[in-house]
Amino acid sequence: MDKLLISGGKPLSGTIDISGAKNAALPVLASTLLTSETVLIRNVPQLNDIATTITLLQSMGVEIVFDEQLNISADAKEVNERRAPYDLVKTMRASILVLGPLLARFGEADVSLPGGCAIGARPVNLHVRGFRAMGAEVSIENGYIRARSSKLKGAHIVFDTVTVTGTENLMMAATLAEGTTVLENSAREPEVCDLAKCLVSMGAKIKGAGTSTIHIEGVSSLSGTDHTVLPDRIETGTYLVAAALTRGNVRLNHTEPGHLEAVIVKLKEAGADVSLGDNWIEISMHGRRPIAVDIKTTPYPGFPTDMQAQFCAMNTVAKGVGTVTETIFENRFQHALEYQRMGADIRFEGNTAVCRGVESLHGAPVMATDLRASAGLLLAGLAAEGETLVDRIYHVDRGYERIEEKFRKLGADIQRIVG
Ligand code: UD1
Repeated sequence: MDKLLISGGKPLSGTIDISGAKNAALPVLASTLLTSETVLIRNVPQLNDIATTITLLQSMGVEIVFDEQLNISADAKEVNERRAPYDLVKTMRASILVLGPLLARFGEADVSLPGGCAIGARPVNLHVRGFRAMGAEVSIENGYIRARSSKLKGAHIVFDTVTVTGTENLMMAATLAEGTTVLENSAREPEVCDLAKCLVSMGAKIKGAGTSTIHIEGVSSLSGTDHTVLPDRIETGTYLVAAALTRGNVRLNHTEPGHLEAVIVKLKEAGADVSLGDNWIEISMHGRRPIAVDIKTTPYPGFPTDMQAQFCAMNTVAKGVGTVTETIFENRFQHALEYQRMGADIRFEGNTAVCRGVESLHGAPVMATDLRASAGLLLAGLAAEGETLVDRIYHVDRGYERIEEKFRKLGADIQRIVG
């Protein structure tokens, strides 16, 4: 298993480009199952989760071709397998996103239940309930979600909880359903809007994506399209916090500042100077130590749970006391236990981590437990004195494109130890 070795304590400085968003590319790839025509997808990040999705689509019969710029053409004319097997789903929960498209276009889908996950139970009951409301017969058999429907019907669905992939799955299914579907209490994440944009360019009739009520009028078929995936706001946020906690200054190009408002407000509170352009963000700490901030995760446009571990890392070395409250997922503080091993002063009160900043962390061998926790550990390692060895780096490779190359470009001393 690969590891990353970081020799910390240096302020980051320089310019890098942000990649396409993993969480937008995954549903867009799944949406290619909705049409028999070719879909060209640009700005797809090269990540393990993307490779897993491609393997999944190929196993169903979708033809995938890469061009020289690594844009992806997906052709789902022949789809002879309507099953997502456990081996693939267990490594990536987002595989559930093929359920809606398969069911809508072919009337059948068998998708393995995702099973346990390091960051809490993460059920898929709201996806299932939505498909049932659209007239599908859904049962759980031998660990698989088995869904059947001769023709999905439009329905009025109110989500109990805001769910990102749940909204995306049902929105995709509704594009080919008979009649109109209304999704209430929908997720408003930019990735939902990006998927809606792609679907509309395929001929879908969708209104209200980006608000909590989405209307979808079903059509009989969708066509091919050419779609460019939006920039990754979580990758952007991760590099911004990396600059803040190392007291550095960094410019990020090819990003979308408008998607990071909640994160930027908190960075400013931490004492960062932040300048924004059309598609770039610059952050400078002018050598200053960050000030601890209080954050509470909520669905978009609130503070993203996927940035919680990184801000927690910043608070460990910040001036003062900061609280981080997680409201989306239970059991999402494993990173904080590892920060404690690096000398952080953190105590837990229910779903809140209360952190009193220390002058500096000390390097240690640490273990990544999930994707964003591993990003937090890298940041802690960059801020720490001495060497930090981050194990189980496959979690990072699921979601951050060429991370050590990008950090090195910003002056970090980081190397991969291939194991
Ligand atoms: C997506 C993101 C993930 C992010 C999360 C929250 C992708 C591929 N992943 O995950 O990076 O951390 O949104 O912003 O886009 N829930 C239920 N029943 C369901 C579905 C969800 O109770 O059927 C609950 C979950 O347990 C959780 C909350 O709803 O407490 C939000 O989860 P959800 O938005 O569905 O997360 P994902 O879409 O899996």
